[in-house]
Amino acid sequence: MLAVVTGATGFVGRAVCARLLKSGWRVRGLARTLRPQPPQGIELRLLDLEREDPATALEGADVVFHLAGRAHILEDTSRDPGAAFQSANSEATAQLAHAAVKAGVSSFLFASTAKVHGEESPGRPFTERDAPAPQDPYSHSKWDAEQRLRGILPHSTILRPPLVYGPGVGANFLRLMKLVERGIPLPLASVNNRRSMIFVGNLADCFVSCATLPAASGRTFLVSDGEDVSTPQLLQRLGTHMNTPANLWPCPPSLLRFGATVLGKRPEADRLLGSLQLDSSAVLGVGWRRPYSLEEGLEQTVLWYRGKSPPTQ
Ligand SMILES: NC(=O)c1ccc[n+]([C@@H]2O[C@H](COP(=O)([O-])OP(=O)(O)OC[C@H]3O[C@@H](n4cnc5c(N)ncnc54)[C@H](OP(=O)(O)O)[C@@H]3O)[C@@H](O)[C@H]2O)c1
Repeated sequence: MLAVVTGATGFVGRAVCARLLKSGWRVRGLARTLRPQPPQGIELRLLDLEREDPATALEGADVVFHLAGRAHILEDTSRDPGAAFQSANSEATAQLAHAAVKAGVSSFLFASTAKVHGEESPGRPFTERDAPAPQDPYSHSKWDAEQRLRGILPHSTILRPPLVYGPGVGANFLRLMKLVERGIPLPLASVNNRRSMIFVGNLADCFVSCATLPAASGRTFLVSDGEDVSTPQLLQRLGTHMNTPANLWPCPPSLLRFGATVLGKRPEADRLLGSLQLDSSAVLGVGWRRPYSLEEGLEQTVLWYRGKSPPTQ
């Protein structure tokens, strides 16, 4: 079986390639550049999905894992952020889906985001039946991509992950690990939220499993590690694995929100203070089982952070 993986050099793409190779798949990875170094053991093709026709890259493919996307933009300097997200996440997905139809691939799996439902869950975990309510250009572009994909390839499978962490993680999760390691005092002890996350090994396994589970065809799934934690609990658990207790002190969350609003950092504060919980029972209902617990995922992430294990090869 030949799998084509877009975004093969990305954080999630590397893990999906590794998981596929472990199960004996042939893997053709698509990437825009050779940096970072592509995963070992795959056939790599360079392709910019926004500018080039993906038709030849899909020749002979049985399954497409579409993981490439514009994400993790901490400081957006593009002139029109909405257009940049739309081009990378929606237009490119539609073009790839049309090419997949022509190539006759049997399964198409797409990495969307839990943020399609919004930034904060309504006092209970989101389910796939909750109405989409994207709130930023990134999640708007993903929701748009989902709808176009359903129109072109009704049997595709869409996964909506929350924050993904694991060896090789960057952005905010890496920042949190650095803050814990340095013992920086964090005013988050009074935060009583609940957030779902997913270990990259679980997400990669879910993608690969869904490619072969007949009941996953044509479905959209929220995916998570299945154990939700508050922000202080997450920091404490990271601290335990790092042998550096997190330095947490109490401060009313309302004051933190006010301070963040004044500093123009409200979205960042909402991610630390608010709840975003997902109900992933639907994907378990079609037969997927998580290989890792949250604790195992955090342990592997800290081992990588400490230089004791490599990012996914
Ligand atoms: N990580 C998370 O927490 C998370 C959560 C929810 C959903 N997701 C989704 O999961 C997918 C993978 O995320 P990730 O964390 O692995 O992101 P990542 O590390 O930034 O990887 C994204 C990959 O997509 C490639 N790409 C972007 N635009 C492209 C284009 N026009 N043509 C070809 N390749 C292009 C990037 O290549 P370059 O290196 O050349 O830019 C990169 O290899 C994304 O679709 C993301 O939206 C991620």
